[in-house]
Amino acid sequence: MEKIKLLTNLRGLITPDPNQTWKVDFIEAPTIVLRDGRIDWIGRKTDIPYEYGDPEPIDGKGMWASPGFVDSHTHLIFGGDRSQEFNRRLHGVTYAQIASKGGGIRETVRATRQATVSELVTIGSNRLQKMRSKGVLHVECKTGYGLELETESCLLRAYSELLKRGWSLDVTIMPAHDIPVEYAGAPDKYIKVVSEEWQPELIRRHPDVASFCDVFVEKGVFTPEHGRQVLESGRKLGLKPRIHADEFAHTGGAELAAELGAASADHLMFCSDQGMVAMAKAGVIPTLLPATTLFLGMRDFAPARRMIETGCKVALASDFNPGSCACIDPLLILRLGCLQLRMTFEEAFAAMTLHPALSLSRPDLGHLYPGARADLLLWDVKHPLELVYWMGEAYRPEIIYSQSTLKSSCLSKWEARSAKAALQ
Ligand code: NIG
Ligand code: FE
Repeated sequence: MEKIKLLTNLRGLITPDPNQTWKVDFIEAPTIVLRDGRIDWIGRKTDIPYEYGDPEPIDGKGMWASPGFVDSHTHLIFGGDRSQEFNRRLHGVTYAQIASKGGGIRETVRATRQATVSELVTIGSNRLQKMRSKGVLHVECKTGYGLELETESCLLRAYSELLKRGWSLDVTIMPAHDIPVEYAGAPDKYIKVVSEEWQPELIRRHPDVASFCDVFVEKGVFTPEHGRQVLESGRKLGLKPRIHADEFAHTGGAELAAELGAASADHLMFCSDQGMVAMAKAGVIPTLLPATTLFLGMRDFAPARRMIETGCKVALASDFNPGSCACIDPLLILRLGCLQLRMTFEEAFAAMTLHPALSLSRPDLGHLYPGARADLLLWDVKHPLELVYWMGEAYRPEIIYSQSTLKSSCLSKWEARSAKAALQ
């Protein structure tokens, strides 16, 4: 049976316009018709088409509606944390020095390998609940803290379970996140095994979980040539490429992303002008992660303004991970977009909603025009600009779900089974 609902008594609606790049609309006192979990109509209450009959009303309580934030770059599931390492960095040791002594990513890999799938699921589910309470309604999440076939496979099992529970996710396979101890000093050998054996095997074991593949192209880690091997192998398996590129040095990752027609190139603090032009031409979405720049204590934020002027559809995301960005807060990222990347409020807002959704091939997310998925946020503000202006304020949106099943927080059958097995 068709379900029609009427969202009224809103102070306003803020939404990017999916048909015009960078245009963000502020619509005062709209009425919104939700039909079968989608936005069907927006207009004045007095103009509601007769055909809707007498729909179930939802009270907007005088708040502003917006689409949910889309976080298109997270390393959602990992074991342990690196707060001790964080303090070492505050004492002056660099991220690279920690990594060269076997800490950093490798420390998280040790903790992740020790976790059971059930623990990984609980970790992921707790983090997603926190993200949702802050307004993030769709999340991209990567593997990459296993760095061995079995643990990468466990991470995919955990993501698969979260998908079954109704979380709105896109999953990215990333065994080439770092060189594991087992392959120390042999990155060529590692990339060969990832490209030729692990990626095909992971897809064979988990055919419907991942849509993307990713690789860390960086000085001292993987070269653009390694990146090409991993991403081309992924593409043959039906995975769309994303790239960690130009984070600590210019390595040509953005140029490679353009050449391969990647969905996104991420980080880009050291992106070249040629890289930007190439990404704009190829339609690659540069995904900037300003909370990482902040957390790493780096001085120079990614050149967002130059990218926008070059014609790129810039996205902003969290990069949530234990080493370079222990942050899931969308409002902090929105604020850094405005205050450090020098984006206008409208640009930063589109960069946290529509553009990340486009980079994930989700044209029905990140805006609220007819056809969009009708999961939306209600903000208790006089104007959405306040979300950035009252800088330290921890706004929590109310959430209206029309379609996704995120409301259910009960133990799934799978979790109940694993809990039972653990007790036996
Ligand atoms: O995106 N650059 C590589 N990966 C992460 C850092 C991971 C870690 O330190 O655990 C990033 O910044
Ligand atoms: Fe990352």
